[in-house]
Amino acid sequence: MVGACLVAIAVFYAGPKEAHAAPDPKLVVGPGECGECHASEVTAWRKTRHFKAFRGLTRRGDALQIAKKMGIKRIKRESLCMNCHFTSKPRKKRIKPIAGISCESCHGAAKKWVDVHQNFGGKGATKKTEPPEHKKQRLMKMKAGGMIRPAEIYRLARNCFQCHTVPYEKLVNVGGHTPGSKFDLVSWLQGEVRHNYLASNGKKNAKASPERKRVLFVVGKAVELEYNLRGVAKATKKATYAVKMARRAKAAMDAFKKISGVVSAPEIQKILAASASVRLKLNNEKELLRAADIVSREAEKLGRKYDGARWAKLDPLIPKQDQYKGKPAK
Ligand code: HEC
Ligand code: HEC
Ligand code: HEC
Ligand code: HEC
Repeated sequence: MVGACLVAIAVFYAGPKEAHAAPDPKLVVGPGECGECHASEVTAWRKTRHFKAFRGLTRRGDALQIAKKMGIKRIKRESLCMNCHFTSKPRKKRIKPIAGISCESCHGAAKKWVDVHQNFGGKGATKKTEPPEHKKQRLMKMKAGGMIRPAEIYRLARNCFQCHTVPYEKLVNVGGHTPGSKFDLVSWLQGEVRHNYLASNGKKNAKASPERKRVLFVVGKAVELEYNLRGVAKATKKATYAVKMARRAKAAMDAFKKISGVVSAPEIQKILAASASVRLKLNNEKELLRAADIVSREAEKLGRKYDGARWAKLDPLIPKQDQYKGKPAK
C-alpha cells in the first residue's frame, strides 16, 4: 500500500522538472533530411541566429572565457554547452555537433516519427483524402515517436524557455554566462524564427492569425512563469542567477494579472491562485515547485482547449510587429 503510494507520487512529480531535455542524439536525423520536403522552412531557419550559432560559438572570446571559468577544455565536447547551442548526432565513435539549434531541438528527435508524420495512407494518399481512422492512428504514432507538433503549444513553448531561462546557477554565477533575456513567446517567435509555410505550399511565410497569437501569448506567459519559478527553486545564492529568475517570475506574474483582468477561464484563475501566495526566495524549493507544477498543468490545458476567438480583449497587451525579434524570412 505504502509502496504503491510512493510510486504514484514519484510519477506525478516526474513531470517537466528536468532543466533541459535535449533531443537524444541517437534519434536525431538532422535538418538536411527535413529539407528534402520542407525547403522553405530550412531556408528561413538558415537566416536565424539558431542556425548561425553552430559556426560562431567556439571562436568567440566570451565563449572561451565562460569555458575557462567553468573548467571546460573544449566547448564542442562539453554536453552542458552542446545541449543548448547545438544539435548532435553520433559520428563514428563520438557524439558530435552537426548543426546549431535546429528543427529537432524544437520538434523533437525525428527518427521515430519522420516517416509516420507524412504518410497519409500509402501511395497517392494526401492529407485531404486521409481516412479519419488513419489520421487518428498517425497522430498517436507521431506523439509516441516524440514529435512536438505546432498544435501542442505548451510543449513547444516549454522548449524555448528551457534554453532561454538558462537554468544553471553555476554557469551564470561562476561562468559569467548571460542569465538569459526577457524572452516573450509571441515577439521572439514571430520575428526571425517564424516559418509558417504550409498553408501556402512553401510560398509565403504567413503571420500567425490574431486568434493564434492570443493563445500563444497566454500560454507563453504561463510557461514563462513556470520556468522562472523552477529557476528560483534551484537557486542557492543571492547573486545574478537568483535575482534574474525572481525578477522574471515577478514580471510574468504581473503579466498574468493583466491577462486575468480581460479574459476569464478557470485555468487562468488557478494559475493566479497558485502563484499569488508563493514566496520568491532562496531555500523554498518545495513551495516553488508545487506552484510551477500547477502552472504547468493549467498552461497545457490553455494551449489545448482554447482557440483565442473569444479573447479579442487581449490584443492591446500582445507585442506588435515593431517589437518582433529579428526579421522574418520572406
Ligand atoms: C518525405 C517528406 C518529408 C520529410 C522528410 C519531412 N517532412 Fe515534415 N511534413 C511533410 C508533409 C507532407 C507534411 C504535411 C503537410 C501539410 O500539412 O500540408 C509535414 C508536416 C510537418 C509538420 C507539421 C505537422 C502538423 O501536425 O501540423 C512539422 C512540424 C514537420 N513536418 C516537421 C518536419 C521535420 C522537423 C522534419 C525533419 C526531421 C520533417 N518534417 C521531415 C513531409 C515531410
Ligand atoms: C540552458 C541552455 C544553455 C546552456 C547550458 C549554455 N548556454 Fe550559452 N546561451 C544560451 C542562450 C539561450 C543564449 C542567448 C541568450 C539570449 O539572448 O537569450 C546563450 C548565449 C551564449 C553566448 C553569447 C552571449 C550573449 O549574450 O549573446 C555565449 C558566448 C555562450 N552562450 C556560451 C556558452 C558556453 C561556452 C556554454 C557551456 C559552458 C553555454 N553557453 C551553455 C543557452 C545556454
Ligand atoms: C536548444 C536550446 C534553444 C531552444 C529550444 C530555443 N532557443 Fe532560441 N536561442 C538559443 C541560443 C543558444 C541562442 C543564441 C544563439 C547565438 O547567438 O549564438 C538563441 C537565440 C534566439 C533568438 C535570437 C535572439 C537575438 O538576440 O537576436 C531568438 C529570436 C530565439 N532564440 C527564439 C526562440 C524561440 C521562439 C524558441 C522556441 C520556439 C527558441 N528560441 C528555442 C537556444 C535555444
Ligand atoms: C526554435 C524552435 C523551432 C525550430 C528551430 C524549428 N521550428 Fe518548426 N515550429 C516551431 C514552432 C513554435 C511552430 C509553430 C509556430 C506558430 O504556431 O506560429 C513551428 C511550426 C512548424 C511547421 C508548421 C508551420 C505551418 O506552416 O503550419 C513546420 C512544417 C515546421 N515547424 C518545420 C520545421 C523545420 C523543417 C525546421 C528546421 C528547418 C523547424 N521547423 C525548426 C518551432 C521551431
